Amino acid sequence: RILILDYGSQVTQLIARRVREAGVYCEIHPGDVDDAFIQSQQGLKGIILSGSHASAYAEESLKVPAQVFQAGVPVLGICYGMQSMAAQLGGKAEWSDHREFGYAEVRAHGHTRLLDGLQDFITAEGHGMLKVWMSHGDKVTALPPGFKLMASTPSCPIAGMADEDRGFYALQFHPEVTHTTQGEAILARFVTEICGCDRDWNMPDYIEEAVADIRAQVGNDEVILGLSGGVDSSVAAALIHKAIGDQLTCVFVDHGLLRLNEAEQVMSTFADHFGIKVIHVDATDAFMGKLAGVSDPEAKRKIIGREFVEVFQTESGKLRSARWLAQGTIYPDVIESAASKTGKAVAIKSHHNVGGLPDDMNLKLLEPLRELFKDEVRKLGVALGLPPAMVYRHPFPGPGLGVRILGEVKKEYADLLRRADAIFIEELHKTIDHTSGKSWYDLTSQAFAVFLPVKSVGVMGDGRTYDYVVALRAVQTSDFMTADWAELPYALLKKVSSRIINEVRGINRVTYDVSSKPPATIEWE
Ligand code: XMP
Repeated sequence: RILILDYGSQVTQLIARRVREAGVYCEIHPGDVDDAFIQSQQGLKGIILSGSHASAYAEESLKVPAQVFQAGVPVLGICYGMQSMAAQLGGKAEWSDHREFGYAEVRAHGHTRLLDGLQDFITAEGHGMLKVWMSHGDKVTALPPGFKLMASTPSCPIAGMADEDRGFYALQFHPEVTHTTQGEAILARFVTEICGCDRDWNMPDYIEEAVADIRAQVGNDEVILGLSGGVDSSVAAALIHKAIGDQLTCVFVDHGLLRLNEAEQVMSTFADHFGIKVIHVDATDAFMGKLAGVSDPEAKRKIIGREFVEVFQTESGKLRSARWLAQGTIYPDVIESAASKTGKAVAIKSHHNVGGLPDDMNLKLLEPLRELFKDEVRKLGVALGLPPAMVYRHPFPGPGLGVRILGEVKKEYADLLRRADAIFIEELHKTIDHTSGKSWYDLTSQAFAVFLPVKSVGVMGDGRTYDYVVALRAVQTSDFMTADWAELPYALLKKVSSRIINEVRGINRVTYDVSSKPPATIEWE
């Protein structure tokens, strides 16, 4: 395995992704772990030191544990990791008020195992060049003893250094971001050729190991899991069921704010197809009752969250023999909670993962997806036999249609919205973009209909109508923090609008939302 020590860079997770894409297992840990932690690592083959926002010279900056350089394994320092390596091994790094940020062309010097043969172009003078992404203020100004120059740019004469006898390598640029064209190859070379890791991180092996782990962990105990129909809890359910079969019971709380036929799909996939024990709680009336008369978005979220926990507690409280609570916590949640300095506390995800259970149940937590990234969770889901359409579905908020019905939530509104939304989604699946060969569903990151509780006038046949309006929303985004509205083909919008108005009695007008985030948000509430 590879250990990645995190010094607070926003792109540390990308290092782990690139390493795992190379087929090598790795873990991220805080940069200030102690020497004993490093000594305790079984099967350690190499260490990667991440970048940071801090300066290698700032007082409060984290120091790389000395044991990193004594562990007898190769070490790759990236950006801050490089500066720390230089500073701690007898070289020099200096603070600079000139920040270099963005695209750069780096010249590779001499032959090193890390960069040899990897280049984007060759200059007229015959120098191999790499196109990279830089982001740094500090830089290394003197090589530590034993190191040689590996790469340089005009503004950063020491952009890479190596002590090949000890297996120490360092790069000022970021190989983990896709802007560094050869970055993936550089990281793959470090972990496989230099550290000697096998490319054996793959799904079938992972499933086998995970199943064995779950069995060893829970023994003959019973486990409960809150199933939402979302990717994480679904994959966790399938995996745990594979390991312990009937010792698993899922509780599926239907708040009446799910998409069309979603509850049926969840039940048919898990109960009928997998034969998993699922307690289906149709709590529509309870939720609608609590939501009556409430129109403030945050108040609605709170009510839905609270009610959810309450229903889950009541149902799971009936399973007195359960000893474990399973959750679909995934790696980014774990890292987030570590980063927020909550220490070892377990990340409890937003409300639809269970908030608080009765203390007297005394449940232990089972989180079999803790080591996986979202795309790995999806691959695992498919490998476990979950329908790809479920695994690759757009994200759906926990409060569901509760935040897509503006203002007060009523069952009547939810029923209209569900049907309009289903038509939109169906047409997105059916419409193929000929340039990419992909459906518009796959070309968008999230798409849905929003119910506007206003009435507008229309004509239908000979009659005048006075009905509700829906807005269609489709966005493209990589991280959901910013998003562009999707330029859907007019023909697609036309078809969706005409189908909704003709098929959903009660809606006579459809609009398309052309606002990007920011300043708008993806959801309307
Ligand atoms: P916004 O509207 O903030 O949404 O641009 C960003 C992403 O978060 C999802 N979202 C939620 N997910 N509970 C959730 O589980 C919520 O209350 C919630 N609000 C927004 C939204 O669907 C989008 O993917």
